[in-house]
Amino acid sequence: MKELLALLTGTYGPSGNEEPIRKVIEEEIKNYVDEIHTDVMGNLIAVKKGASGSGKKVMLAAHMDQIGLIVTNIDENGFLRFSNIGGVSPLNVIHRRVVFQDGVTGVVSYESELEDIKNLKLNKMYIDIGAGSREDARKLVNIGDVAVYYAPMACQENRYFGCAMDDRAGCAVLIETIKAVKNSPHELVFVFTVQEEVGLRGAKTAAYSINPDLGIAVDVTLTGDTPKSRPMAVNLGAGPTVKVKDSSVIAHPKVKELMIRRAEEAGIPYQLEVLEAGGTDSGAIHLSREGVPSGVISVPCRYVHSAHEMVDKNDMENAVKLLTFILENEINLG
Ligand code: CO
Ligand code: ZN
Repeated sequence: MKELLALLTGTYGPSGNEEPIRKVIEEEIKNYVDEIHTDVMGNLIAVKKGASGSGKKVMLAAHMDQIGLIVTNIDENGFLRFSNIGGVSPLNVIHRRVVFQDGVTGVVSYESELEDIKNLKLNKMYIDIGAGSREDARKLVNIGDVAVYYAPMACQENRYFGCAMDDRAGCAVLIETIKAVKNSPHELVFVFTVQEEVGLRGAKTAAYSINPDLGIAVDVTLTGDTPKSRPMAVNLGAGPTVKVKDSSVIAHPKVKELMIRRAEEAGIPYQLEVLEAGGTDSGAIHLSREGVPSGVISVPCRYVHSAHEMVDKNDMENAVKLLTFILENEINLG
């Protein structure tokens, strides 16, 4: 898991520019699936065919895009003004090193005459790539180029720290599940979606074309276990979560019950998750066509959308076990 996660979190792929991360994931899974293709939106769709004709068609989704900073303007002194791709908070990006697709790197800073840093907005910030003039900067970057955090993954005991755990941790869980699932009666359609961070866009079209009987998203969720954090009944390392609700979806009761039942049967630790703010691909999947029974298994994650998101190895491994156990057994939503 460690090497895979380091590879995934170290690969470029902000929303709308997922090609590098898509290539890496395709390489990882292509020998373990029956079919694989990339759709118009850029979603990577891989199918493992069912062992019997009586199974369900299950869509499993993890988003491969990450948040980023998009260049909106280059001033005469070569400083880059930027806007957000997804949820970028000013306090999270101050004095962070960022990197563009071709390796050009910079540091994010802000207009220092500002009085109250709490009121800092992205339009008072800039990326400094060390250029001396607009002409110099233009040789390195262009309007519309997107930078992401530069933060190579670290590992300490069971904890992994790095950027883009949201949702490369989920991608790693799906990849390991693809490798682990044997003899599923179901047709399994694994989707590594694009543009989740800008509004669940890839999952929307993928769900329409796949037309699944059941949808399961795998994403990160917040925790409530850091000093004076907002109360939330999710702890890092206490197991993957079965989502009850977030701002994009209320989990289908039968799907939620199935996840809980399978976790208990297999003796896998799990936590129930109510996420007060934030959404995930299930938000789009469950509203596809005439509705798709949907649920989410989440990987608890501290400091989501910062340069150093923290996840736990056991939570990820237990998420793989739980998904595998669900997929290798009967799915009855009646
Ligand atoms: Co996110
Ligand atoms: Zn996410």
